[in-house]
Amino acid sequence: MKNPVIRPRRLRSTPALRRLAGETRLHPADLVLPLFVREGTSEPLPIRSMPGVVQHSIDSARRAVTDAAAAGIGGVMLFGVPAVRDATGTGATDPNGILNVATSAIVAEVGADLVVQTDLCLDEFTDHGHCGVLDASGRVDNDATLERYRDMALAHAAAGSQLLGLSGMMDGQVAAVREVLDENGHADTAVLAYSAKYASAFYGPFRDAVESTLEGDRRSYQLDPGNRREGVREALLDIDEGADIVMVKPAGGYLDVLSDVAAISDIPVWAYQVSGEYAMIEAAAANGWINRRRAVEESVLSIRRAGADAVLTYWAVELATWLNEERTR
Ligand code: PBG
Repeated sequence: MKNPVIRPRRLRSTPALRRLAGETRLHPADLVLPLFVREGTSEPLPIRSMPGVVQHSIDSARRAVTDAAAAGIGGVMLFGVPAVRDATGTGATDPNGILNVATSAIVAEVGADLVVQTDLCLDEFTDHGHCGVLDASGRVDNDATLERYRDMALAHAAAGSQLLGLSGMMDGQVAAVREVLDENGHADTAVLAYSAKYASAFYGPFRDAVESTLEGDRRSYQLDPGNRREGVREALLDIDEGADIVMVKPAGGYLDVLSDVAAISDIPVWAYQVSGEYAMIEAAAANGWINRRRAVEESVLSIRRAGADAVLTYWAVELATWLNEERTR
């Protein structure tokens, strides 16, 4: 037998060659940290199913975003956890609601150093836990919800949010929000569309994080996990409606959709590594079943490789810290 002439291993033979031949790199600027701010707490509160992640007080959130800016990450995505909820999610549009108050505080702290983003959805604010308002028969009412989203967009923009994360999966939400922003002097406020957002079991720990009251599921508005083509369709619609960035969520189980969307999109494509993806690696690592740091790095690298320009991940700051250490070594 002849020896091989073609030897791909040649480029893997030293750390320097491997580094130079690397196709995908992680950089702190491509990472976004999701952050939960709870109304009425003066101390950060641990989240049972997300070890290492907390519900922040306004003060602890201020400190966390200062650390995030120092680590050089690209942005933070804010979620509010209100003390009181009602049928229409009044707290979402109240200028004194927790998310709007936290947004102004955080923009004042780090608004010049990173992109302060807000989750635009009603589920944390409604007593039934759905992402929209309900009609008389208890179904999520798409067009009535758009009216609430428009008011929410104005509240977020007034609080200083620089990028609105539309995660509710209502039809027409990007166009509705873009229009109201433009009509009210917020043409510079950008829109991140959670375009291909699947009805996923991997949001489980997030429900603890925001103390969700949802009964039932979100399958009448979020995508069926088996549908690949439909993910691309949703992204195309959002691009058409004026989104500045489209997103695929969850990330790890949906790399095919991410790759498809990246192939057709002429605007940035992001991915959200969700709470369940975080919890699984943390749980396995805590049991000594997996190397935590390597698993974290590989999971985010894979999301970048599949086509994400930036990644929302609960490890954003820790991962950025590792990357900074490697660069200064
Ligand atoms: C909706 C929203 C959810 C997540 C982000 N935005 C929950 C849902 O749609 O059920 C999940 C994020 C995660 O699991 O980390 N406000």
